[in-house]
Amino acid sequence: MSGDPLDVSAIKKDFPILEREVHGGRLVYLDSANTSQKPRSVLDALERYYERSNANVHRGTYLIAEEATNAFEGARAKVSRFIGAADPREVVFTKNATEALNLVAKAWGRVNLRAGDAVVLTELEHHANIVPWHQLHDELGIELRWIPITPDGHLDLTDLDRLVDGAKVVSFAAMSNVLGTLLPVDRLVEAAHAAGAIAVVDASQHVPHVATDVQAWGADFAAFTSHKLLGPTGIGVLWGTSEILDATPPFLTGGEMILNVTKEGFTVNELPWKFEAGTPPIAEAVGLGAAVDYLSALGMEAVREHEVSLTAYALRSLQSRFGDDLVIHGPAEPAERGGVLSFTFGDLHPHDLTQVFDEHGVCVRAGHHCAKPLMRVLGVAATARASLYVYNDEADVDALAEAMAAAAAFFAH
Ligand SMILES: Cc1ncc(COP(=O)(O)O)c(C=O)c1O
Repeated sequence: MSGDPLDVSAIKKDFPILEREVHGGRLVYLDSANTSQKPRSVLDALERYYERSNANVHRGTYLIAEEATNAFEGARAKVSRFIGAADPREVVFTKNATEALNLVAKAWGRVNLRAGDAVVLTELEHHANIVPWHQLHDELGIELRWIPITPDGHLDLTDLDRLVDGAKVVSFAAMSNVLGTLLPVDRLVEAAHAAGAIAVVDASQHVPHVATDVQAWGADFAAFTSHKLLGPTGIGVLWGTSEILDATPPFLTGGEMILNVTKEGFTVNELPWKFEAGTPPIAEAVGLGAAVDYLSALGMEAVREHEVSLTAYALRSLQSRFGDDLVIHGPAEPAERGGVLSFTFGDLHPHDLTQVFDEHGVCVRAGHHCAKPLMRVLGVAATARASLYVYNDEADVDALAEAMAAAAAFFAH
């Protein structure tokens, strides 16, 4: 791409998996909204940690245990800087974004919500930000309210004031994993606080793709997951203001999260360890720290700029080639969305489509993308979803177009 702020051919070389051949051709990976690939620096950080410094954290009095603790807490400091947190104590390591959102619903929600209290969600949420609230509905009798979406995939804010009136929680994705829509985080946080509710941001698709400043958002909690931002699986993040984290009881309990235990009871550790029961994901944190370093070196402004222009190219080239046969859901304007392209193509079933794509080495996800309520609103059972990241270029989009043409030809017979 001329004027691309990222040198994608150099970036591709940093990702060993992209050198693989599949079905006799090159691997075209277009499923990063699902999970991202990992650069060599992340793989090396994991290997180096296990080869040189593997020990449990916060308990050892010997050299490698100190190294492990420093690497683990150093990763927390990197994540804290990357998202603009006021203090690393506000960064809690969890298993993934799902566990982070469960922590909010179950630890904060169970002590702060009563029967009849309202929690406001949007119609485009991932199941991770729906099911924990459904459970509180069943357990406590809370009410769920839904901010609708417009036909072009934006939130319909016409009734926002009425929907948040008297609510205790407003919880929403910063970027949709299906439509790519960027949500108006500031506006939603402001509306939540004006109504006396807390604001919870599911930042799983935002943090990997758009520079994120949790303090500027002014929200109470934000959740995201390492494996979508070039880091390992097995670790996620719950950020919360120290005020709200201090006021939230522990979620999981056991070792590490205590200051003292007697036969009569226990006292909890300080932030953030109060929420990190048991041996934490140490190597995974080190890998996440390396992923944050990699993205910081690229620069998140450049990452976003690359994605906007590649998304514009994809929308333009696919739509001009396939016309009305191709329906791409979500905002038409690249600046209003991330590089997530959910589509239906003629009357082809998304699973049939992605099976043909696979024969061409093109990895695209088909299904409901863990957003069944949104699928119902869109009036589809499933979509195919191609999603872009720093290692994708126009040639990858062209490979998708060729695979689509091949699928159309194959099923025409
Ligand atoms: C918007 C959103 N929220 C939450 C999640 C859950 O992430 P994880 O499975 O890592 O917990 C995802 C992953 O697909 C997502 O896209």
